[in-house]
Amino acid sequence: MYKFYVTTPIYYVNDVPHIGHAYTTIAADILARYNRLAGKKVFFLTGTDEHGQKVQQAANEKNRSPKEHADLMVENFKSLWTRLNISNNAFIRTTDSGHVKTVQGLMQRLWDIGEIERRKYVGWYCTPDERFWTEKDLNEGNCPECGRPVEQIQEENYFFLMSKYQDSLIAYIDRNPDYIRPETRRNEVLGFLKNNELGDLCISRPKQRLSWGIPLTFDDNFVTYVWFDALVNYFSATRYLVPDAEMAKSGDFWWPPSHHIIGKDILTTHAVYWSTMLMALKLPLPENIFAHGWWTIEGKKMSKSFGNVVDPNEMIEKYGADAFRYFLFREVPFGHDGDFSEEAMVNRINTDLANDLGNLLSRSLTMIEKYNEGIVPDPVVSKERDKEKIVRARFDSESVDVQGGPALTLYYGFDTFISTKLEFSHAVSLLWSAINSVNKYIEDSAPWKEKDRGILSNILYTLAESLRLIAVYVYPFMPSAGDNIWKQLGINTGIEETIASSPGYREWAGYKLSGTRTSKGGALFPRIDLKKAKETRKSSEDRVNPSRSKENKVETSGDNLISISDFSKVRLKVGKVITAEKVEGSNKLIKLQVDTGETRQVVAGIGKTYSPNDLLGKKVAVVTNLQPAKLMGVESQGMLLAATDSEGALSILTVDRDVKEGAKIK
Ligand code: ME8
Ligand code: MG
Repeated sequence: MYKFYVTTPIYYVNDVPHIGHAYTTIAADILARYNRLAGKKVFFLTGTDEHGQKVQQAANEKNRSPKEHADLMVENFKSLWTRLNISNNAFIRTTDSGHVKTVQGLMQRLWDIGEIERRKYVGWYCTPDERFWTEKDLNEGNCPECGRPVEQIQEENYFFLMSKYQDSLIAYIDRNPDYIRPETRRNEVLGFLKNNELGDLCISRPKQRLSWGIPLTFDDNFVTYVWFDALVNYFSATRYLVPDAEMAKSGDFWWPPSHHIIGKDILTTHAVYWSTMLMALKLPLPENIFAHGWWTIEGKKMSKSFGNVVDPNEMIEKYGADAFRYFLFREVPFGHDGDFSEEAMVNRINTDLANDLGNLLSRSLTMIEKYNEGIVPDPVVSKERDKEKIVRARFDSESVDVQGGPALTLYYGFDTFISTKLEFSHAVSLLWSAINSVNKYIEDSAPWKEKDRGILSNILYTLAESLRLIAVYVYPFMPSAGDNIWKQLGINTGIEETIASSPGYREWAGYKLSGTRTSKGGALFPRIDLKKAKETRKSSEDRVNPSRSKENKVETSGDNLISISDFSKVRLKVGKVITAEKVEGSNKLIKLQVDTGETRQVVAGIGKTYSPNDLLGKKVAVVTNLQPAKLMGVESQGMLLAATDSEGALSILTVDRDVKEGAKIK
């Protein structure tokens, strides 16, 4: 097809971008660049998700308005995408007026055609995840997704009548094997849909609870649920952000997208919410939703509390954007989970990039300089031997009939692996096997010993032409390296504009290279020496244990400081435990009656360390002005203070000397 529209998730602006965000965005960039090479019209969209509770909370903590917070945080994403060479055509923010209008228009349409209903609702709400759960979803009274406590909430709300699309969605996924990929994820969604009853979806939030959202046009007391707002971005961008305004005028040129690239964490919202929303709106569904796997860091889940969050900016500074991009897609098959370590990355840089590719370029150019004054010679076709044919067979679209020639040429292999299957790592290994066959060809034909001018010309031409095409295939993964190889070969136009202008340029000898004057530059990928790699590793281990380096340092400045009046908002008292019992159905929760001057019920998640009897009579520290919450249906009017160390050992805090229950802690 002639157009190609690819999206990334729009990332929350409550946080700074990390390796996970970079991964998804690079994947979309590889696809966008590859399809531009193929001469297609490409629309590549990324952006930020700026409404909702999480952003409002993050902004509150920084004493900023949500919009001010978003305006600051969005720059972290934009600057990272520039540094990573991301070629997005547009950047959508859900606070854009064009987006807000589109969301309001679509919501109004759903309301008008009776796809939205107002209802009373009782449910469990996980504030950090902004998700409602039913009683049976809960896991020991906590959010089944993140394990944090949920709140019971009762209110009037608006519901999207999602349940009635259950059967059509199952049928759609059954009929369209490529709709959700990879296969394991497709089976997951189908299994879920076939074995559960799909409910209706609460799509509003009362303004008094959450004001930071898009107001509903049909009821001003409510704002739109953040996911309903966010998912629409993929559509609204086609209405006001498209690269070619003329195209946009001709109706729905860009809709539907070719791929939504997402992480597996947000598969349900895309495969179920978004698909059924589109069905209700009678809009075509995207061609494909691809949910990739999850990165861990040196075997651990990436999290702020482990201090092991990989900052892509740091990786770019140390190793360059190309090497970082390459590593992520070489190391792990797209769709699988992966583990990141700098050591593995340094190994890849040294072997694949510095040795295999970098040396091939520098050896070839050195020989062209030495044996032909830096000019790419004409091939003398009559002197072509099987050796040259075997190399050519790697690249040509025509299969060349030689013994030992590979079955799969890069020309077709890349199309299958990248366009059809999104198997990036397979595309890269195919490319590297071609690179190494060219390296082997140098050894086999030993140009330094060759006396025959004709054969020597053929060898030098074969090397230069191989490198020209290698650069083209390298380009979607490592755009700077690709262009750099072309420059050193003496081609003065960029890869993308040249190749996109004629499909023949991707063919062996399809572009006239003979007569070009090469200009050898510095090493394409300097080797990283082992010693430096070791230092690198040490510093990444430091990051895994931040408690040692950070907490020993007294914080005297920065965003985390709070004033004494902030602190005094928390009321802490000494409480004496009067009764304690396990909460039924939970091995973690203990229900306590605590005397803090008045008797209050507190539910604490300490049952794996303490038995109820251990606790009787203990004097503990209690937060007394927390909003009451229900844990596993049991009300808790406060919180016990407890300490947990990095090994997971837990201890409740008690007083050192005897003071009366109800004593204030300050
Ligand atoms: O979910 N490994 O935004 P978000 C791989 N705003 N990918 C990861 C990752 C990891 N460890 N961590 C994050 C949201 N990602 C919503 C999306 S879309 C209409 C709204 C990537 O900032 C991955 O792509 O939490 C994941 O889906 C996304 O970041 C979540 O980004
Ligand atoms: Mg997330």
